[in-house]
Amino acid sequence: MEFLVKSGSIEKQRTAALVVGVYETRKLSPSAEKIDAITDGYLSNIVKRGDMEGKHGQMLLLHNVPNAACERVLLVGCGKERELTDARYAKLLAAAVRKLHDTGSTEAISCLAELNVKGRDLAWKIRSSVEQTEQALYTFDELKSKKDSTRKPLRRITFNVSTRKDLVVGEQAIEQGQAIAVGRNKARDLANLPGNICNPTYLAIEAKKLVKQYDKVSCRVLDESELESMGAGAFVSVSKGSEQPGKLITLHYKGAPNGDKPVVLVGKGITFDTGGISLKPGAGMDEMKFDMGGAASVFGTFVSVCELGLPINLVVVIAAAENMPSGRATRPGDVVTSLSGQTIEILNTDAEGRLVLCDALTFVERYDPDVVIDVATLTGAVIIALGHEATGLMSNHNPLAHELENAGEQTGDRIWRLPIWEEYHDSLKSNFADFTNLGGRAAGTITAACFLAKFTRKYQWAHLDIAGTAWVSGKQKGATGRPVPLLTQFIMDRAARKADK
Ligand code: BES
Ligand code: MN
Ligand code: ZN
Repeated sequence: MEFLVKSGSIEKQRTAALVVGVYETRKLSPSAEKIDAITDGYLSNIVKRGDMEGKHGQMLLLHNVPNAACERVLLVGCGKERELTDARYAKLLAAAVRKLHDTGSTEAISCLAELNVKGRDLAWKIRSSVEQTEQALYTFDELKSKKDSTRKPLRRITFNVSTRKDLVVGEQAIEQGQAIAVGRNKARDLANLPGNICNPTYLAIEAKKLVKQYDKVSCRVLDESELESMGAGAFVSVSKGSEQPGKLITLHYKGAPNGDKPVVLVGKGITFDTGGISLKPGAGMDEMKFDMGGAASVFGTFVSVCELGLPINLVVVIAAAENMPSGRATRPGDVVTSLSGQTIEILNTDAEGRLVLCDALTFVERYDPDVVIDVATLTGAVIIALGHEATGLMSNHNPLAHELENAGEQTGDRIWRLPIWEEYHDSLKSNFADFTNLGGRAAGTITAACFLAKFTRKYQWAHLDIAGTAWVSGKQKGATGRPVPLLTQFIMDRAARKADK
């Protein structure tokens, strides 16, 4: 998709479709007023007759509007002006884009950046429009033998702004929105691929491709035998049950001098989670191909940062393995030694995410990180706690947690913090090893994070449990690409703060 910004009077624009807002109840937005004025009240008549009340999400496509230079006018219901929140704004952008795409407009001029969204400026609104457009039109048809292609797809959107001064602001917002969209779509693509294609080796090959694609990028892949001899016993206890060899993949982006401590992102990359010997029930097990959603999101964030060329150092580590039952698989009760030297009694082989992550979290100490954030589809329990709206956040450092919360508010890719108090650690006690990999039924998301916390004492750390937000089930089944927007925003904010210093 191509995006442009333009200032100038919209009445004169020759375009396939002009997109303007109508508030509830029947109140024209400023651009709609302008069109109304040159069309002898055509829009206000329609609105009066009751065809468009301005209800949020309502849509009316008009052809042959008298005196207008454009082919169509798309009226978009915005709901009550004072209730136009971030989320409601995003929803109507997506709906408008779908409508244009499905009704043969190959390009359009959007006036929706003029709408008042509480506390948001023009840059935010344009960036959000770009992101919503790319998300609304995302398709995954790589694996279909026949692609159903729209005959006249939407190819270009021009944002109308009021002054020339706004052009620069708009262009920068477009660049940012597109960079985030590229990374997010990459995350969605990777996560949507099934386990028989996207295995640890596939992820390693994809990572190596980035070295050729972008400047300042290097990549290193450790294979299972190297991990074994290094002492990553927890990681290997998971990967060894599979025919597919596990990989620890490191991507390095060097956008700042060597002395600058890197932001480190660690992703859970279980390319399929059967549960291992603690086998999962069959229903819905296909969705465990999304168990590398954390890896996909840190990969996607890496891509966004490369696209933006941010002046920071970034290290992304992907713990890639497949969790399978086999003659070589770990048994419940087995005790393994992690890379940190701490021993773990594996009481449930389905709690495998924390096992691959704990060694990755020890591994990243070597990068002398500024902060470490791991992202994982770690627990079903986070869905019980937070549903599918918020990602679970746990952290050993309050300022870092707040930074992430802010980035979540900024992007709408929101998170909610849970505690990891000392008291919760009790449930991991073991009679045979330093601790077990299994808390009780209570507070499953928290006890999983407490397990990880035993490996992150040496640095500032945050953990994002995305089991409820990385994909959607049902008819629209597919990866969401979350939390790429959140993480990219977090890194953009850090880069900006550094520049201010
Ligand atoms: N990948 C799953 C978590 C998961 C389950 C994500 C359902 C999304 C939907 C993880 O490896 C797992 O199996 N976790 C167990 C942990 C338990 C054995 C302590 C869980 O959540 O049931
Ligand atoms: Mn599992
Ligand atoms: Zn898992």
